[in-house]
Amino acid sequence: MNDVSHFSAGISVLEISYILASVLFILGLKMLSHPLSARRGNLIAAAGMGLAIVATLLFHRKEGEPIGNIGWILAAMAAGTVIGWMIAKKVKMTAMPQLVSFFNGMGGAAAALISLMEFPHVSQELMMKSGMANGHVLAILLGLVIGTVSWAGSMIAFGKLDGRIGDLRVRAMKYVNLTILAAIIGFIVFIMTREVTASAELIHLVIILFGVAIIYGVLFVMPIGGADMPVVISLLNSFTGVAAAMGGFLYNNQAMLTGGILVGSAGTILTVLMCRAMNRSLLNVIIGVFGGGGATTATAAGSIKEVSVTDAAVLLSYSKKVVIVPGYGLAVAQAQHLCHELDKLLDEKGVEVKYAIHPVAGRMPGHMNVLLAEADVPYEQLVESDEINPDMPNTDVIVVIGANDVVNPAAEDDTSSPIYGMPIVRAREAKNIIVMKRGMGKGYAAIDNMLFFNDKTRMLFGDAKSTLQALINEVKAL
Ligand code: TAP
Repeated sequence: MNDVSHFSAGISVLEISYILASVLFILGLKMLSHPLSARRGNLIAAAGMGLAIVATLLFHRKEGEPIGNIGWILAAMAAGTVIGWMIAKKVKMTAMPQLVSFFNGMGGAAAALISLMEFPHVSQELMMKSGMANGHVLAILLGLVIGTVSWAGSMIAFGKLDGRIGDLRVRAMKYVNLTILAAIIGFIVFIMTREVTASAELIHLVIILFGVAIIYGVLFVMPIGGADMPVVISLLNSFTGVAAAMGGFLYNNQAMLTGGILVGSAGTILTVLMCRAMNRSLLNVIIGVFGGGGATTATAAGSIKEVSVTDAAVLLSYSKKVVIVPGYGLAVAQAQHLCHELDKLLDEKGVEVKYAIHPVAGRMPGHMNVLLAEADVPYEQLVESDEINPDMPNTDVIVVIGANDVVNPAAEDDTSSPIYGMPIVRAREAKNIIVMKRGMGKGYAAIDNMLFFNDKTRMLFGDAKSTLQALINEVKAL
């Protein structure tokens, strides 16, 4: 697909198909904003992509000629479809973030490959005409750098989320990253201001640029850990969208351009919102600086107090206000239906039950919303953590189910903690705290949580599903 010129035959059908595909992308994206319509939105956007692909295969013409190598293209698409289908079928809900990271990286790699392939063609064409670099060259270079950073960064993010790669935190890292970023910008300016006469020499530079972008992608994600991964994932997602949009600009392909712009802008908006929710600055995200100093000084101290299922059931049944904090463990245990059963039982007893939703609870943006929507928990019962926090002192019992980092007071108390500065659900301000988890396991940020040692906290140990079932039985029996 080295076509940077224009389409001829079949142009109207192709363009109409691209407009239709773009409309389907926009509709799909809009529907993704609510858990109830999200599944349909995903299908609609996928249908748009299918339409764009089929229309391209059937109607795209370059100098009157249809697309060549159809056999290879179909074989590659079939192989990709089978592999993607098999992975998506097998993946567990809790491993979705790794999968999303991996697939996002593939998008970045595809955009980078387009640039690597097209640079020789475009520079040759320009050499024959004006000899100067132009918008197409800039689109190629930006697509290459952004796509490569997204690919390399997503692979590191995949390794981290999958527990294969640890954090690498060195204080000087931010200066190294800033220097590499400056070098990348310098490279682009250098190539853009050179006459494209020495095409072969420039191709070497482009390959070096590719290598430097890989190093940057790896280094800027390496220090990120703790609770900050979601922010970097949404940033990488927006990078892939922007890189794809560069491809759309290069090929004069409206569907690719619209799709890329939508992913890029949605990812950027999400990144900005996540930064705000996590109290981080966007510049720090881009150069890989996060959290506090790194090693937390808070270590587990004090004694743990347990509560029996019967006592917990009594406490809950005779409360006025209960807040449930769902977390990753609730998703692992697949206990969302039981959780909703418990809240309905309490509601029948006149207890007001709300859910405190933290922006990064679980392992993907909106994880808790999706999980609870699956169990038909009414949307009105879900309250963002910063909205529910002021009401915490009036809450009789807060029930933390499989959550850990999102209620960890170290985010407010311990300046050296990697999660320092992250807003939390202020569980410690409630009158009583019940924590349901299997043992004293740490959360994603791998740090101790002093909430478990709080005087008001009672631990209810066990798998969330069996504990919730036992609790439901007790509440029913009361
Ligand atoms: P976590 O801090 O990860 O804690 C989950 C807790 O659940 C663990 O301490 C574990 O303790 C418990 N648990 C696991 N399986 C359980 C089960 N079957 N039954 C009961 N408890 C179980 O979860 P969180 O509070 O939701 O915080 C999310 C973390 O993930 C944050 O650090 C966030 O930054 C990070 N993260 C989020 C995202 C997004 S976008 N949401 C993406 C990547 C990373 P036991 O082992 O003792 O049971």
